[in-house]
Amino acid sequence: MARLQLSNITKRYGDLKAADDVSLDVVDGEFLVLLGPSGCGKTTTLRIVAGFIEPTAGSVRLGERDITTLPPWKRNAGLVFQSYALFPHMTVSENVAFGLEMRKTPKAEIVPQVIEALRLVRLDHLGDRLPRQLSGGQQQRVALARALAIRPDVLLLDEPLSNLDAKLRQDVRVEIRELQRKLGLTTVMVTHDQEEALTMADRLVVMSEGRIRQIGTQQDLYERPADRFVADFVGRSTFVEGRLDGEGRFVSAGELVVACDGSGRAPATIALRPERLVLLPPASPAMDNTFPGVVEFISYLGSQVDLHVRLSPKERVIVQIQNRPEQPLPVIGDAVRVGWSRSTGRLFLT
Ligand SMILES: Nc1ncnc2c1ncn2[C@@H]1O[C@H](COP(=O)(O)OP(=O)(O)OP(=O)(O)O)[C@@H](O)[C@H]1O
Ligand SMILES: [Mg+2]
Repeated sequence: MARLQLSNITKRYGDLKAADDVSLDVVDGEFLVLLGPSGCGKTTTLRIVAGFIEPTAGSVRLGERDITTLPPWKRNAGLVFQSYALFPHMTVSENVAFGLEMRKTPKAEIVPQVIEALRLVRLDHLGDRLPRQLSGGQQQRVALARALAIRPDVLLLDEPLSNLDAKLRQDVRVEIRELQRKLGLTTVMVTHDQEEALTMADRLVVMSEGRIRQIGTQQDLYERPADRFVADFVGRSTFVEGRLDGEGRFVSAGELVVACDGSGRAPATIALRPERLVLLPPASPAMDNTFPGVVEFISYLGSQVDLHVRLSPKERVIVQIQNRPEQPLPVIGDAVRVGWSRSTGRLFLT
């Protein structure tokens, strides 16, 4: 177990920077998640930590050691990849023993370490099976056991759950997280699945185009997104484009005048969370921002309903309402009033 530090890591492939000046400090025992769209550099960053890719610049420290130029097998990192990559002709136990044999662990120690690792993932009764005789979730746990068997200083997980169906994914998520906590394992997991990232992480790192956009807790990212990209990628936002008019107001492209916490005169965008917008009954008092609109589209999601409401020729917002039996749902074409408080709009200069 150890602290993991990446300092100014860059990886170039020709003109492309797959990782661009990435600095991270993962504290001992922390579960850090790298989140971002396809191609943003998550796997590259993880493989640099594992030692499979040499960075063009920057350094990696694990505990007290600079491991930047160390080969993978000397790093003591446990790895689980997207495809479980078990050896099909080897039994579960042989698969788990593989990393220990590669590391020239004495024979007498291998068996107890394999048993211990399989016990951790609750598969010690299936050691003699072949991978194809296991379910997807069990195979995933063998891959995890294999990573844990070497008693790693850091656990690196690259989309470890993407081959599992939605229900199983939720179960294995919880299993991995509880095990990681119990072992106090410093862990970096890569995913492009927002929900997975939010449910598992102590802290999240949002990446795009090789760069870190923001590092923080779930609340940091949701309540205080650093930029428009994060506001869009974590949770949902409707964006209203426009400009600050120099008098403490925001004027949208469709000429809505919006009260917001911004000053100055500049092009800007306001991000609105759908669940923080409300439908106001006709006679109720106005909020900081109250606009008449027309419902153009409805998405029925069961417990919630998304209303796409046109506020002006250039602006349409999503209002998420709770589906309550006592409240009749609007229908397409209904005239409504949409309201939100001043602090709801997150302002970004553009
Ligand atoms: N060996 C390589 N040679 C050239 N370009 C590469 C190489 N490996 C990765 N890239 C490029 O680097 C960028 C980052 O790739 P990376 O695999 O880190 O993305 P990712 O965030 O893991 O994406 P995904 O979610 O699709 O797995 C991509 O644009 C990719 O095409
Ligand atoms: Mg990847």
